[in-house]
Amino acid sequence: MADGSVVSTLRPPIAMLAELTHRCPLQCPYCSNPLDLQRRSEELTTEEWCDVIRQAAALGVMQIHLSGGEPTARSDLVEIIAAAQAVGLYSNLITSGVMLDEAKLATLKAAGLDHVQISFQDSRAAGGNLIGNFKGGHEKKLAVSKLVRDAGLPLTVNVVVHRQNLDRIEEIVDLALALDAHRLEVAHVQYYGWALTNRASLMPSRAQVDHATEVVEAARKEHRGRLAIDYVVPDYYARYPKKCMDGWGSQYFAVTPRGRMLPCHAAETITGLDFPSVREESLAEIWAGAEIFNRFRGTDWMAEPCRSCEHRERDLGGCRCQAFALTGDATATDPACSLSPHHAEMLATAQAEADSGDPEYIYRR
Ligand code: SF4
Ligand code: FES
Repeated sequence: MADGSVVSTLRPPIAMLAELTHRCPLQCPYCSNPLDLQRRSEELTTEEWCDVIRQAAALGVMQIHLSGGEPTARSDLVEIIAAAQAVGLYSNLITSGVMLDEAKLATLKAAGLDHVQISFQDSRAAGGNLIGNFKGGHEKKLAVSKLVRDAGLPLTVNVVVHRQNLDRIEEIVDLALALDAHRLEVAHVQYYGWALTNRASLMPSRAQVDHATEVVEAARKEHRGRLAIDYVVPDYYARYPKKCMDGWGSQYFAVTPRGRMLPCHAAETITGLDFPSVREESLAEIWAGAEIFNRFRGTDWMAEPCRSCEHRERDLGGCRCQAFALTGDATATDPACSLSPHHAEMLATAQAEADSGDPEYIYRR
């Protein structure tokens, strides 16, 4: 539990990730949804989501990210977007695009949708359709991206990168430019949950990462003002970890399909924790008072070496989900940190896996 100083300095969240459903036609081997997918019958109803959205706005949230699974699998997406629009939230639809068409997009825009983010699995159809295990998916994404821009909506292209596609980073930048995207998000796979199972097939080498970093830095300069590029060097090869989620329960929260409110979208990969339900408590009560939200806020919870480290305010000990995935202890220093007693083992594993042979994907079904 956090001390009073953390609670008294608590600021309102700025964004909510609304995981509307875990249903999804794709089967990516790095899916970030929990291993135990929630069933359709458990999902929050339309009215429950609209109530959550109204509470989020009252709490101070300014952006809603509509995600999943595949959020367009919800037949009430129009009503949910309209509810967000009615309380002044900026809405971003995070979608694979494969279930969208021109008419549906027009309906969503008319309801108030502000922005669309389409996830690509590769710059090329063969690689993309293999990762998603969805025939024709890449081609459909290209077509839907054009529809998004033709509808006058801003577009972000998101590409999750790993050993099998990272050498095509130049093509990935070109793809975003060709689609007239405003933003390109290049996201390295995070190795917890389902992705941990496929780590040996996905782990890039340091040389690949270094090359990609150079390409992105050059592209940022070349396309400034036309294409913004989000890219974070994967912390496996960094000296210190990143400040994950800008701090646990600090600026964002997620609501799962059945209404669990999480301080981090991947928090359910940490087993043995009890997450509060928006069906039983208000968002404001959970944000300020839930034990699990306060558990890793601030620095009081830290053990050594973080506790006495000069960097503790800067990175807050790294990622709690990764620490749990790799050490079994969510309070441990993130092994991505070079000061962690687990770092050498993690780095050796990463380097060995990066040299392993052809991929054998275990798909998320
Ligand atoms: Fe950050 Fe902890 Fe590593 Fe220090 S020891 S750099 S606080 S993760
Ligand atoms: Fe959960 Fe980093 S992904 S704290």
